[in-house]
Amino acid sequence: MISTMDVLTGPREIPGANLLNLLVVDDERAVREGCRDAAQSAGFNTFAADSAEHAYKVLDNQNIDIVLLDLKLPGASGLEALRTVKSRRPNAVVVIITGYATVSSAVQAMKMGAFDYISKPFTLDELRIMLERSMDELKMTTEKRVLRERLRSKHGFGSIIGRSPEMEKLYRIIAKAAQSTHPVLIMGESGTGKELVARCIHFSGPYHDKPFIPVDCGSLVPTLIESELFGYVRGAFTGAIRAKEGLLAIANGGTVFLDEIGELTVDLQAKLLRAIQEKEIRPVGSTKRVNINVRILAATNRNLEAAVADGTFRRDLYFRLNVLSLKIPPLRDRKQDIPLLVEHFMERMSRNTGSQRTLSEEALQVMMGYDWPGNVRELENCLERACALSSGPALQTADLPSPIQNANHPMQTEAADGGKIVPIADLEREAILRTIDQLKGDKLLAARLLGIGKTTLYRKLKEYATED
Ligand SMILES: Nc1ncnc2c1ncn2[C@@H]1O[C@H](COP(=O)(O)OP(=O)(O)OP(=O)(O)O)[C@@H](O)[C@H]1O
Ligand SMILES: [Mg+2]
Repeated sequence: MISTMDVLTGPREIPGANLLNLLVVDDERAVREGCRDAAQSAGFNTFAADSAEHAYKVLDNQNIDIVLLDLKLPGASGLEALRTVKSRRPNAVVVIITGYATVSSAVQAMKMGAFDYISKPFTLDELRIMLERSMDELKMTTEKRVLRERLRSKHGFGSIIGRSPEMEKLYRIIAKAAQSTHPVLIMGESGTGKELVARCIHFSGPYHDKPFIPVDCGSLVPTLIESELFGYVRGAFTGAIRAKEGLLAIANGGTVFLDEIGELTVDLQAKLLRAIQEKEIRPVGSTKRVNINVRILAATNRNLEAAVADGTFRRDLYFRLNVLSLKIPPLRDRKQDIPLLVEHFMERMSRNTGSQRTLSEEALQVMMGYDWPGNVRELENCLERACALSSGPALQTADLPSPIQNANHPMQTEAADGGKIVPIADLEREAILRTIDQLKGDKLLAARLLGIGKTTLYRKLKEYATED
């Protein structure tokens, strides 16, 4: 199923890791080439245009972060070109290149949103300093935007709920990760919100208007992962009736989220590493390489370090993905987030069902006492189930699944049964029959809420029928 990432190391320290795109627009070839060489050695992906028209084309097709713009271009007024650049890429940092005679219009350009100007002729050092300042500016404006976004949600960060110190720490790392283009490794137990965090990093970053493509490496067979990620040519294998572009290429400036990366076979790990390092892929069955411009976010609930130690995960790929890493704390280590999460899920359910439901104070206390091995997902399912099974306006402790009730009073079951040992099969039978009864015979819903397949439920009912 294809359904649905610091501790930043300075980008210039990692060759090829700075994915910022720079466009130089100047009709003088010497200036274009000088700027391009300087920007390239500073680690930028560099594009050049000799006219305003050509520049607009590049802007439409590439995620340009920084523009060096000559104010005297053939066929367009420099200020008009600036206005167009700003309207197509409002978040790009624009530095004006001016001749001695155009300084006054450069000042006007700054009033119109250009960041700064540099006068011709300039030295390589002057240019380098300007590029560094532009990068700082880009980081600052992105950070401000991310912070604004964050303030919008008083219960957390974007759609992530939680105000515990552990989560606040996580939000600071997410904000940093959002404005960088390095890979991020998201770690955390099942149900802690790894996919939610990946989305948040993508959607609060500068490329939020580009695709976010999740790929579940855990549920796809290796050959399918390969053809999905890298694409294939017509006739590459049986059934390949037409060529298909790889997701790493389709993302074009966006993000590919590799979920359950720990499940990737060693062969695919090598191919992925090569793709990340060389920024190009080779579609299955093709001899040609295709350039890619993609950010990789990866998630795992496995201990990748241990996998590296026992040789099932490549050390070099682990280091590539782990430039920036982030560990989502399990819910049991941030129990003060439980009331906010409960409020959030109850509100959502009330909106969806149209009936206002609340949770009794006692039930909330019981939930606070439980350890949530399935984390936020388990909490979400628990509330959904309780809402479906109870009819009163306020959910009570008795509406919660028994493991949650028992976690608070471990002796209760024993006392109720007079200390008698009950076989699991009997407990299961009891749970199934009681649930169907409570749901007035809705077996499909019962199977779903009990977390078993409908075939299993029907089979068990048949068994009970023959026993009686
Ligand atoms: N902090 C949170 N605030 C709101 N919702 C959350 C939070 N954490 C998780 N969720 C919700 O819990 C569910 C599970 O989250 P998600 O799928 O991101 O977990 P995961 O870590 O990817 O789990 P798995 O390893 O099992 O794939 C989703 O419905 C998600 O919206
Ligand atoms: Mg997941």
